[in-house]
Amino acid sequence: MMAKRITRNIPQMTLLASPWEEYELLDSGNGLKLERFGRYRLIRPEAEAIWSPAWSESKWKTANARFVTSDELHGGHWEIMDELPKRWLVSYKGLKVWMQTGGSRQIGVFPEQSDHWDWIEEQIDRAKRPNKVLNLFGYTGLASLAAASAGAHVTHVDASRKVVEWAKENQMASGLAEKPIRWLVDDALKFVHREARRKSFYDGIILDPPKFGRGPKGEVWEFYKLIPELLDACKSILTPQPLFVVMTAYAVKASSVTLHQAVAEMMFAHRGRVTSGELVLREKSAGRFLSTAIYARWSAKFKS
Ligand SMILES: C[S@@+](CC[C@H](N)C(=O)[O-])C[C@H]1O[C@@H](n2cnc3c(N)ncnc32)[C@H](O)[C@@H]1O
Repeated sequence: MMAKRITRNIPQMTLLASPWEEYELLDSGNGLKLERFGRYRLIRPEAEAIWSPAWSESKWKTANARFVTSDELHGGHWEIMDELPKRWLVSYKGLKVWMQTGGSRQIGVFPEQSDHWDWIEEQIDRAKRPNKVLNLFGYTGLASLAAASAGAHVTHVDASRKVVEWAKENQMASGLAEKPIRWLVDDALKFVHREARRKSFYDGIILDPPKFGRGPKGEVWEFYKLIPELLDACKSILTPQPLFVVMTAYAVKASSVTLHQAVAEMMFAHRGRVTSGELVLREKSAGRFLSTAIYARWSAKFKS
């Protein structure tokens, strides 16, 4: 039985973020990245930028703000260098997301995930049937909005009330108010176990688990400790003919090969295909690819 489970091929595919009009990775280097979100330029820490910047210091000084790190545990703060509104809207195709600088380096979107949003829409489109999608650790909701705009009934789960309110504002800004999205403040793992008990099933699951996190009641999320339990629980809430699963991870020691095998194992009973690899952004300055995250995604093979 085990022999059958061994994956003989691990097709790795580097995913270059789909082009954005309103986002650009301008340059990177010295552990930093310079990005443009709409009209505003921001400098943020980026551990993978182990090279020298291609642009001159004077070009980097045109940034509107930069995130200054204090230490890994305590984060840091934003230093405003030029005019910057409290928040501003940025579009990705028809989707709109509010950007804002706050207590963390994250400002409301992970632009390197744009290929996932397109891919999620494709999976829903090609199914040509009503379907339910679950987005766990959903943050400000871009993946939920992509799924809903393609016609799915979406359940979005995040532990942070503030982030869920933000996601709802993105729904309004994107003109998707009428789309069926359940916005839930909950612990991802507890929620999935509860759905399994209620026999509530999903055709597509999106997971973006952080390395560490806390549920709304202080539940501790630890990637390495809990990912096997979470994937197992997710397996039990799939419909008999699921459409897709996509998992992304940042700042973990695991490789995309590890994610690949975990997702392959989870989807063993279903006909489909797993791909995995890194999510990358391409600099405008020197064309270098900046690796940001690892992913694995499974999509159904339909009978022809
Ligand atoms: C920003 S996303 C993930 C992004 C990316 N994977 C990373 O690690 O930077 C992480 C989201 O997970 C949420 N989160 C953390 N722990 C959680 C938990 N136990 N249950 C549900 N959501 C959680 C956070 O509120 C946050 O919005």
